Amino acid sequence: MRLQYKTVVITGGANGIGAVAAKLFGKNGAQIAIVDFDKKAGEAKAQQLHELGIEAAFFQADVSDSENVKEMATKVIEQFGKVDILINNAGITKDAMMLKLEVDDFKRVIDVNLTGVFNCTQAFLPTMLSQGKGKIINTSSIAGTGGNIGQTNYAAAKAGVIGMTRTWAKEFGRQGINVNAVAPGFIETDMIDTIPEKILGQIKMMTPYTRLGTPEDVANAYLFLASDESDFINGTVLEVDGGMLK
Ligand code: NAI
Repeated sequence: MRLQYKTVVITGGANGIGAVAAKLFGKNGAQIAIVDFDKKAGEAKAQQLHELGIEAAFFQADVSDSENVKEMATKVIEQFGKVDILINNAGITKDAMMLKLEVDDFKRVIDVNLTGVFNCTQAFLPTMLSQGKGKIINTSSIAGTGGNIGQTNYAAAKAGVIGMTRTWAKEFGRQGINVNAVAPGFIETDMIDTIPEKILGQIKMMTPYTRLGTPEDVANAYLFLASDESDFINGTVLEVDGGMLK
């Protein structure tokens, strides 16, 4: 029960890593606000958590739309009265080699993966500041720390997430808010469905653990950074990649 009585907002909480994290956080005593634009999966996830005795609610929002995010944040605060932890986990890919990358696909990935993190943080930060304590965890990627072929847009957004993380750690640390990032390697979710088996095999061979990561691997890192155990950790990027060779 490392998060007893804490209110956690998790974006992209309807599927993949976010959904696994929502359950793990709930099992650790937190109340969960699942934010996602996938209404069907988000409602189903909230219902599953209820059935496990976890207090959870679904809030539909597109994180790239600042007005939509403000409305969502108002509803979350109305329902739960506070927010202790924000996990900026929602993300998409639209991969293409640099010369073939359409500008719309460049912009959409920046809008969701970078501006989305900005929008949600700006919407929830005032409440955290008024509480004098809060934790923000941003999801970056090893593509953001090291680049990745075919991911100009995604790598730019995820590197930007690290820049914002370190900036906010400096801006808000004195006010009791710590801000950290997690940089997952290749994790078994729908997001990597488009990667051919052959490439996945090569990725495993580049990983000392010779396997892909699981959503649980990342959720456990979120849990540590969300818990009081990480109170003196601020502005860091925690790599969850099995020690993948870069
Ligand atoms: P996923 O595709 O399984 O889940 C992403 C969730 O975000 C979905 O529920 C989707 O509906 C939601 N979402 C997407 N765009 C949204 C928007 N505009 N507004 C609200 N919700 C939106 O992906 P996964 O793997 O769980 O990814 C979670 C995070 O981890 C992402 O930020 C991703 O970039 C990051 N990550 C994933 C890796 C992987 O190998 N799966 C590796 C490194 C980072």
